[in-house]
This record gives sequence, C-alpha cells and structure tokens, in this order.
Amino acid sequence: MLILGIETSCDETSAAVVRNGRDVLSCVISSSKNDFASLGGVIPEDAARKQLESILPVITLALAKANTMPKELDAIAVTYGPGLLGSLLVGTSTARVLARIWNKPLLPVHHTLGHLSSTWLVESGKWKVKSETSNDSSPQFPILTLSVSGGHSDLWYRTSHVNGVRAGTTRDDAAGEAFDKGAVLLGLGYPGGPALAKLAASGRETAYEFPRPLHTEKVPDFSFSGLKTSLKYLLRDLGEAAVTDVVRADVAASFQLAICRHLADRIEVALDMFPETRELHIVGGVSANRRLRSVATEMAEREGITIRFPATLAYCTDNAAMICAAAYVEHIEKKSSNDAFRTLATSSLANLLDPTSTESR
Ligand code: KG4
Ligand code: ZN
Repeated sequence: MLILGIETSCDETSAAVVRNGRDVLSCVISSSKNDFASLGGVIPEDAARKQLESILPVITLALAKANTMPKELDAIAVTYGPGLLGSLLVGTSTARVLARIWNKPLLPVHHTLGHLSSTWLVESGKWKVKSETSNDSSPQFPILTLSVSGGHSDLWYRTSHVNGVRAGTTRDDAAGEAFDKGAVLLGLGYPGGPALAKLAASGRETAYEFPRPLHTEKVPDFSFSGLKTSLKYLLRDLGEAAVTDVVRADVAASFQLAICRHLADRIEVALDMFPETRELHIVGGVSANRRLRSVATEMAEREGITIRFPATLAYCTDNAAMICAAAYVEHIEKKSSNDAFRTLATSSLANLLDPTSTESR
C-alpha cells in the first residue's frame, strides 16, 4: 500500500512516499523558517505564499526520490488541520486536484494523529537517513504518548491507533512555545527550541533554580507560563550588564532542564494513572531536544517501560511521512476514504479518538 502524503500546516511544505504506513521511501521537507528567523515567529500569509511556490516541486521531488510513478500510488493523504488556514489550504487544494486527476482515494489526516504515528516510521530502501533510534520492532499498545510541539503539549493514552483519551494537556503555553518565548527573552532567533538547546549545551544547568509547575497536582496537565515569567524576572534581576555569554548559557541550560523536568514529572503522574501502559512515546518538535531525551530515558528506565522517539530528527518536527503513517492506520485499516472533508484551522483529536469526548473543537 503506497501512499503519497502532503503536510503544509505551518511553515513547512512536505511530501513523502511511505509503504504500508511504516517504510519511508522518500520524505522531502522545504521550510521557510529562515525567512522568519529575525521576526520571532511565522507570518502566516508569507508562509502560505512560499508554500504555493514550493508545493508542486516538493511533490515531484518526493515521487522521484521514491522512484514512484503517480499510477503506482494507492492513495493521497493530506493534513486537514489544525494549523494555519492559508497554509493548510495550499496542501488540501493540491491534494484534492491530484486525487481527482490521478483518480486516487483522498485520505484527510489530523495533524496530531500524524505526530502520534511518527514513531512507526522506519527508513527504507534507497532513502537512508541516519536513524537516531532503531524503531524496527512494532510498538505495542497500550501506549502513552507525550506530544510536544509549538502548537500543543498533550499526553495521550491509547489502546489502539484510533482509540484512547487525552490524559493531560497544557493550561497555557505549549512546550515548544516555552522554548520559543524563552529564546526571544534570551535574544535568540526563531525557531527558539534548537537555538536555545544549542546555547544550553555549554551552560551549567544547576546554575539557576526554576519552579516545578503543578508539582503537587495529580492531574497530568502542563503549565509553562510560570517558567517563562521566572525567566523574565531572572534576566531583569541579573541586569543587562551582568548577562555575559557565559551567564546566558547557564540561564538557557537551567531553563531547558526546568522544562524537561516538568514534562517528565507529568509523564510520571500519567503512568500512575495508567499502570497497564506498555510503551512511552515522545513525539513532536520538542522531542528533538537531546536533554528531554536523556531525562525521559532515565525516567523510563526507573519505571521499567519501553521508550521510543521518532527514528530521525526530521520525523520529530512537521513532515509528510507521519501523515502517511496516520493515514494508513486510520483510513486504510478502517477501509474508508473521504474527499468531502473540511480544512480546519482548529480541530481536536480528542473527539476523533474518543466519540464520548465533550471537548470543543
Ligand atoms: O512539531 P513542530 O515542527 O511544529 C508544530 O506542530 O508546532 O514543532 C515545532 C516546535 C517549535 O516550537 C520549536 O522551537 C520546537 O518544536 N523544537 C525544539 C527543538 N527542535 C524544535 N524545542 C526544543 N529543542 C529542540 N531541539
Ligand atoms: Zn506539528
């Protein structure tokens, strides 16, 4: 089962060809991030304009790298939401047209289900990217997944790909936003996560004490606004003159550790709630963070539980291969396709996984 996937929910334009929801034959990602580096964030209209220019070349390249002709495809998958509406429409309009002219089923995919499926992806054939972790064995449900990106921070407990509940979510910012806003306070560019992590690498993470948000609460929710405020006041109290490059690195390292510890704390609370969990997965842009990986791996070893991350860093941040994986499990296993979907800027995965959920979209 060969699926061409398209993902354009934020500032990336990505296309991938994946076999049977796991084997990545190609994954091409074109990003306009550098255009926004000095601006502290994405300008939605500019991002969509860049995506209009790159979508067809990116799809053509993905098919060529996978050595695949359109007639060999079994379906086209596309992210329908949530995300930036203009960006999403570039992907969904293109996918609708290609599905019509190539006469293929169209499979709409929720972006977050894409991230949740990213741990299934493995490198295949000629398409060889250096794998961070070997994900060759099949993950085993029940799975607790921490999904942390620039748009969301959630803990999902699932008994199958498409059945489960959202056990916890953020009460304010997303984890990626905490990195991005922290980076702005430290005078770094966008996206802040990688820049802050790079600066933190040379700092001492025990140099400054940050609060442990919601530490006494037994609900696995997240809160990052207190950490951000602490960072703001710490920098103000230190005073501009005292914030040398060395001090900045110490502050970045201490702030990064505080975010990682908070995420690990919340996972532990969720594991207490769901003791039958067999695997812990960490996905989304922030799962690329090496300190988070080491903190979470130590915690998983203590809890005696298998931990998995996406096989390459490219599958942590937004990419079309994860959209193929999610399309395969959701639509192919359910034997359904749907070209009557709507493109949605906001959309809750909780409603899709749990029909009894009363969460608003
Ligand atoms: O999943 P993603 O590519 O896009 C969304 O769906 O939001 O995640 C992007 C987020 C950004 O906030 C970025 O700063 C963060 O992931 N990020 C990182 C790292 N790489 C990306 N955060 C911390 N450390 C990293 N190495
Ligand atoms: Zn994402």
